[in-house]
Amino acid sequence: MTAQIIDGKALAEELRQSFKARVEALAAKGHRPGLVVILVGEDPASEVYVRNKVNGCLAIGMHSEKITYDAAVDQTTVLKKIAELNADPNIHGILVQLPLPKHFDEEAVLEAIAAEKDVDGFHAENVGALAQGNPRFIPCTPYGVMKMFEKGNVDLTGQEAVVIGRSNIVGKPMALLLINAGATVTVCNSRTKDLLAHTRRADILVAAVGKPRFVTADMVKPGAVVIDVGINRLPDGKLCGDVDFDGCKEVAGQITPVPGGVGPMTITMLLANTIEAAERKAG
Ligand code: GUN
Repeated sequence: MTAQIIDGKALAEELRQSFKARVEALAAKGHRPGLVVILVGEDPASEVYVRNKVNGCLAIGMHSEKITYDAAVDQTTVLKKIAELNADPNIHGILVQLPLPKHFDEEAVLEAIAAEKDVDGFHAENVGALAQGNPRFIPCTPYGVMKMFEKGNVDLTGQEAVVIGRSNIVGKPMALLLINAGATVTVCNSRTKDLLAHTRRADILVAAVGKPRFVTADMVKPGAVVIDVGINRLPDGKLCGDVDFDGCKEVAGQITPVPGGVGPMTITMLLANTIEAAERKAG
């Protein structure tokens, strides 16, 4: 059996096209959605992500700008900028690209962003709202995965879902969304004892572990939906996910590729959250 491929690139494009009318309707009322992305330091991967976020906004008529700081900048300078952006009526979303340099207190920076402009959904208030089942902003990557389930008509109710990875950015919010959707959820990590026993039970398997081709075909239940959140750069420069795609596609029922799977959905949901923030403000 060969799995059905869930085409994130096509779904992302379809959604982005549908956002244009919402952006123009807001702009006509004087509320063109605006996103500021703050980048500290020169991590090459982060630079690519940030450029794609800004360009993704501009391509659908939103306002977007990047603010960059040298890695040695002090936290107070960044906090002062965030306070300015919190007060700027033309800015609806503020995102600080992670990871930050080691001398930063990441939590303090994320908490400084006004909760109503926290389009990443990382502010404690927004994490709490998600945990309570009343999300205000859903973190972009797991939000994109949920949209893919929706598109693929995957009914999550009562399904065994296994998430490999426990990060604040993907694993934890992914688990909360699956719980809220009625799945039976297990959160594993790369060191989980007898990981195979968990993954083989999974009707839904989400890999967000950050290790190239970590999920192999023997770990997948026949017919399972396999979601690959990994973006790993191999020594030859090629991108590769956390899932051994070629092996797993022979076992899974549905599977996401890398590239062209979850990746394009992440930025799409960032655009969705920023438009949503602007719509709430416009009333
Ligand atoms: N670094 C990796 N993924 C993300 C993300 O979704 N948001 C932010 N702010 N930083 C990231």
